[in-house]
Amino acid sequence: MTGKLVEIDDLRVAFRQEDGSYAEAVRGVGFTLGREKLGIVGESGSGKSLTGRSLMGILPKTARVSARTLRFDGNDVLSAPAETMRKLRGSRIGMILQDPKYSLNPVMRVGRQIVESIRAGDPKIGKTDAEKIAIDMLEAVQIRDPERVFRAYPHEVSGGMGQRVMIAMMLVREPDLLIADEPTSALDVTVQARVLDILDELVTRRNMGLIFISHDLGLVSRFCDRVIVMYAGQVVEEIAAKDLENATHPYTQGLLNCMPRINGSLEPLPVLDRDPAWLAETGGAK
Ligand SMILES: Nc1ncnc2c1ncn2[C@@H]1O[C@H](COP(=O)(O)OP(=O)(O)OP(=O)(O)O)[C@@H](O)[C@H]1O
Ligand SMILES: [Mg+2]
Repeated sequence: MTGKLVEIDDLRVAFRQEDGSYAEAVRGVGFTLGREKLGIVGESGSGKSLTGRSLMGILPKTARVSARTLRFDGNDVLSAPAETMRKLRGSRIGMILQDPKYSLNPVMRVGRQIVESIRAGDPKIGKTDAEKIAIDMLEAVQIRDPERVFRAYPHEVSGGMGQRVMIAMMLVREPDLLIADEPTSALDVTVQARVLDILDELVTRRNMGLIFISHDLGLVSRFCDRVIVMYAGQVVEEIAAKDLENATHPYTQGLLNCMPRINGSLEPLPVLDRDPAWLAETGGAK
């Protein structure tokens, strides 16, 4: 037992193509996570969500997954019985999915979904108490009219509000590991700041591990402890968040250069013409 919350080595996810062959979308990803905030950045399609979903055991049915190691707190995700994974997902691992529309049950009121989430995590909490916790949490993620949202159906709340409902639903469970996939991208900056505060507090107070998937390098470098940079299904760089600005990998530098800056010019995102590992070693020297 290493005491690590997450251990991943050589994770691969492939999808079957029309000609029957398999194309790998995640190609040998590896990292470990303790009780800390790990950011995963990288352009669209680089495999960030699939990596998070692999850990949760919720990949699309058509995906073929393998790994030398894929463990949550010592549990082997690939060989664990479905029931064990269901229990872990109900209580100890939470994921805020990238698109909240598909995560909420459309025919169940928002409040009831949060209450069920609370009681799934701790069945000893009574219904009235769970309702109070739910409304408090809706208020904490800055929903101005929490009672109304509590009684609403998902289609009656806006997209950004739906995202906050999802966040509230995961936070009330206080999981040991939270995978947050673009959790704040549809939120305005003040709400975003509040959500980050709550996440930060959970990591510190509850000793939670957080995987924070985002396009926003600036945000990740300020908020996370460590950052993984993904490109075409691989990890090209792993770096302390505070050192991100001085990253040496050409792709990470490229990502940094195409971040909007005040008074700055925008560079196009680079396409690597060499093996990312070779570039990392040599810094791109010819
Ligand atoms: N259900 C699927 N069937 C076939 N291919 C898929 C499927 N889901 C993902 N892929 C492939 O895997 C790649 C990585 O997907 P993933 O969702 O992990 O990207 P991402 O890094 O999260 O991107 P984004 O920033 O846009 O959310 C995609 O570009 C796509 O080619
Ligand atoms: Mg994604």
